[in-house]
Amino acid sequence: MIAVQKSLIIAIDGPASSGKSTTARLVAQKLGLMYLDTGAMYRAVALKIYRTGIELTEKSALMELLNNTEVEQVGRDDGVHILLDGEDVSEEIRTPDISLWVGPVSEHGLVRERLVAWQREIGKHGSIVADGRDIGTVVFPDAQVKIYLSADPHTRALRRQKELAARGIAQSVEEVESALVTRDQRDSSRAHSPLRKAEDAVEIDTTHLTVGDQVEKVLAIVKKQAAATAK
Ligand code: DC
Repeated sequence: MIAVQKSLIIAIDGPASSGKSTTARLVAQKLGLMYLDTGAMYRAVALKIYRTGIELTEKSALMELLNNTEVEQVGRDDGVHILLDGEDVSEEIRTPDISLWVGPVSEHGLVRERLVAWQREIGKHGSIVADGRDIGTVVFPDAQVKIYLSADPHTRALRRQKELAARGIAQSVEEVESALVTRDQRDSSRAHSPLRKAEDAVEIDTTHLTVGDQVEKVLAIVKKQAAATAK
């Protein structure tokens, strides 16, 4: 049993399909904490911009859209659902179209500013496990536990292909891998909050790990940190 501190933030960053969401969700479940999927927030905002058709260069229209957008995460029996202005968009935000479109949207300074503010606000209200690209570097630089998950691109592409197939979307591994590598490059080279490992993050390469192993490793790190804080 790990005694969770009053306000514990566990930040899990890493590239697409490195195992972040599954690990973060299960770690949150084991510790009885809230799980915050920040990628889903970017995807939901990207979906809204896609639907409304506004240009990312239209600054005032974008501000107006962000001011009038509500993204919520709700836990249901079958998992975490994402609501965009009250509509359940959990499936729609995971389509290959939105995976492509979210790249330019998440690079936008205004979008990042707003989403980081929402995420910090959520972090003020209790202990969370948050996963994303900039959680340990920008959103919660003081997080007590920082993990950086990595895995080789081919393994990540196989995982993503399986996830897509389960949702009825057929794509070849080559297609999936090429999209992943493009997204990695975009995420790592953008001007605002690029994907990188925080200096004080512990890296876990999940290429040869099972989900159970990943979760155990993160829990061991949390336990070690809790013991160090208690000293
Ligand atoms: O983790 P994901 O694939 O659902 O993330 C979707 C996109 O959002 C991804 O291209 C990177 C971006 N993202 C980000 O820029 N910062 C975060 N904290 C989370 C996701």
